[in-house]
Amino acid sequence: MCFDEIFFHLLENDDQSPVGADSAQDSRMPAGAVQNPNRTEPPQSSMDAKKLPIYHQKNKLIQAVRENSFLIVSGETGSGKTTQLPQYLYEAGFCKDGKIGITQPRRVAAITVAQRVAQEMHCSLGLEVGYQVRFDDFTTPSTVVKYMTDGCLLREVLADPALSAYGVIILDEVHERSLNTDILLGLLKKVFSNPHTASKGRSFPLKVVVMSATMETDKLSVFLNNCPVFTIPGRVYPVTCKFGQAVGPKDLESTAYVKEVVKVALNVHTTEMAGDILVFLTGQVEIERACDLLFEKAECIDYRYDVYDRTVEGLLILPLYGSMPTDQQKQIFQPPPPGIRKCVVATNIAATSLTIDGIKYIVDSGFVKQLNHNSRVGLDVLEVVPISKSEARQRAGRAGRTSAGKCFRIYTTEFWEKCMPEYTVPEIQRSSLTAVILTLKCLGIHDVIRFPYLACPEERFILEALKQLYQFDAIDRRGKVTKLGELMVEFPLHPGLTRALLKAASLGCQDLLLPVAAMLSVENIFIRPGQPEKQKEADQKHKALVAKTGSMNDFALLLTVFQSCKSSDRPSAWCKDNWIHWRALKSAFSVETQLREILLRLQQRRDFPVETFDGNKSELFRQCLCTGYFTNVARRSVGKVFCTMDGHGSMVHIHPSSSLFEQETELNWVIFHDVMVTSRVYIRTVCPIRYDWVKDLLPKLHEVDVYELSSVAREEVTDDEMKKWETKEAAKRQQGSKVMKKL
Ligand code: CDP
Ligand code: MG
Repeated sequence: MCFDEIFFHLLENDDQSPVGADSAQDSRMPAGAVQNPNRTEPPQSSMDAKKLPIYHQKNKLIQAVRENSFLIVSGETGSGKTTQLPQYLYEAGFCKDGKIGITQPRRVAAITVAQRVAQEMHCSLGLEVGYQVRFDDFTTPSTVVKYMTDGCLLREVLADPALSAYGVIILDEVHERSLNTDILLGLLKKVFSNPHTASKGRSFPLKVVVMSATMETDKLSVFLNNCPVFTIPGRVYPVTCKFGQAVGPKDLESTAYVKEVVKVALNVHTTEMAGDILVFLTGQVEIERACDLLFEKAECIDYRYDVYDRTVEGLLILPLYGSMPTDQQKQIFQPPPPGIRKCVVATNIAATSLTIDGIKYIVDSGFVKQLNHNSRVGLDVLEVVPISKSEARQRAGRAGRTSAGKCFRIYTTEFWEKCMPEYTVPEIQRSSLTAVILTLKCLGIHDVIRFPYLACPEERFILEALKQLYQFDAIDRRGKVTKLGELMVEFPLHPGLTRALLKAASLGCQDLLLPVAAMLSVENIFIRPGQPEKQKEADQKHKALVAKTGSMNDFALLLTVFQSCKSSDRPSAWCKDNWIHWRALKSAFSVETQLREILLRLQQRRDFPVETFDGNKSELFRQCLCTGYFTNVARRSVGKVFCTMDGHGSMVHIHPSSSLFEQETELNWVIFHDVMVTSRVYIRTVCPIRYDWVKDLLPKLHEVDVYELSSVAREEVTDDEMKKWETKEAAKRQQGSKVMKKL
């Protein structure tokens, strides 16, 4: 599995932006642009809010929430649902009994919307209006309107299943079908259909509002016991769509789409009337590449001759992706200076979660970065895939909010017909369920197969998750959560990484693992500049850090960087000097503190495991890692090719970014953090290990038959059945150990 990206995503949908390149990039205004007049925040008058379609429904909406404990609100993106409804409910006094909590699948949306609403309500962010995303809590005891990621609410449910701190829960962007929102829907349906639970400790029962763009509301209503649907009427203007010639079915594996979107965007800029452009691309690296190219090319434009609309005098280029610094994200919403055309180059986040005013033109690459279970390698990987037709329509629709617009698709009609599916498959049906299944189990939901899913995941995905939880000792053979599982669920990390961390903590060496867990939870810390000269310099600096580490081990390298920077007098200068992202490292420091706090709290429990260690101390670090990463073991087969040991036997290569790259022929056994699939399957963040350390753990990978687990998942197994099963397992285990000995 791909720990880093997947689980960051699993626990909190970070809009799937890949991480990597230097993002110290600001908005750009090439030659011909009016100089930045030091714009201040646009005055936020109540007039703006009154222009939104939702405003005309204000009283009816408040009434509908009052009368129903479950309500679906649907309306076009940009109609004002996310920013206005919580304010209406606040004004109407719904906060008396508890907070108004609004979930978002994407962290960027939670943050920027909270900023906007705080501004509209004339309060400082963190007071009445606040936000909470993983590892970043911007709320205070006075916060009553709380925006948060769906992952955060799921964690709150764990601590307080009755959600007693809330008077209203608004599940937003439900049409996005993120894994956590889907699970929350099922939980709220299950728990709060019971009037007793819903009204426990409150003067009125918890109100649940489910908000969605105008998609699938009938199905949602049936799922939520036929609850009423409140539709916000809104006008959409026609958008003419034009297909391109550039990207066809044969281009699925190439990245030519970056160059093509740049070409098309520039063409729009020079040949179309004034109006802003929104370009849809896949992730941070592609977006920054496109922004560089756009900037370079736009600088050559002579505004006296080259542009069709003479009122257009410049281009303002703005990137938008999940891991961008918040102050830069804010800029996206500000209107450009007069005469300047704004061009936002964004991930899918701009399709529904965020509405940027003034967009008249869309440039659609046709691709998205998505987390998928890759059956070729038997792992979850983040890959670039064609968007669905419904997604393409949604992207185009962003040009028709306030007037007629145009959408330029860079792909051919043949690509549309042959490569693009009709609808996007919900995340729950295409990604790893390990973390959510553990959450459900900890909530006392034993039968995770018959849980009310809005869309059922394939049973084999549920069984895979159970199998993995069993391998990590988080559940026992009867499917019950173990003591370890109860500890594991407290960490907003992938269970494997948590397992390694808890092992280290039980041996008293958490200081080795906490920084590593933190570093793996933030974006990539190593800067890779585009210019070859600078690239060489960065490579040398990074090699020096590897040398300082004293061993070829990517995990240890993360620890060295963390410790060296932390102990430096001027950490930011240290980062600059060593080509390390200071912003990412700063987040890692904060994440480490938070993980340490969770651990300290758990260590105060009387049942926290304590072990002693009688092996070689210098190997302790790697042995702890093995307890969490034994599911990601690879053995060198021939030359530079490694073979995974998880039963799939996939052929993998060490990624060039690893400090072990070029040393691979000297290694035999390694563990790895994640995989990246291009034409080859690469393993990243690698650590050499000894077979001895995983010898006893590996048979566990083959020990349980997932189909046998299904009976455990469905209901409590009788003792008789359990005995039969155990006898069979013992026989298999013997066979398994024979296999291992042969290796
Ligand atoms: O949720 P829905 O898509 O219905 O609309 P919304 O997100 O509440 O957006 C309503 C308006 O607020 C739009 O015109 C957005 O452009 C604006 N907005 C903004 O200017 N800045 C934000 N951070 C969020 C929304
Ligand atoms: Mg919204």
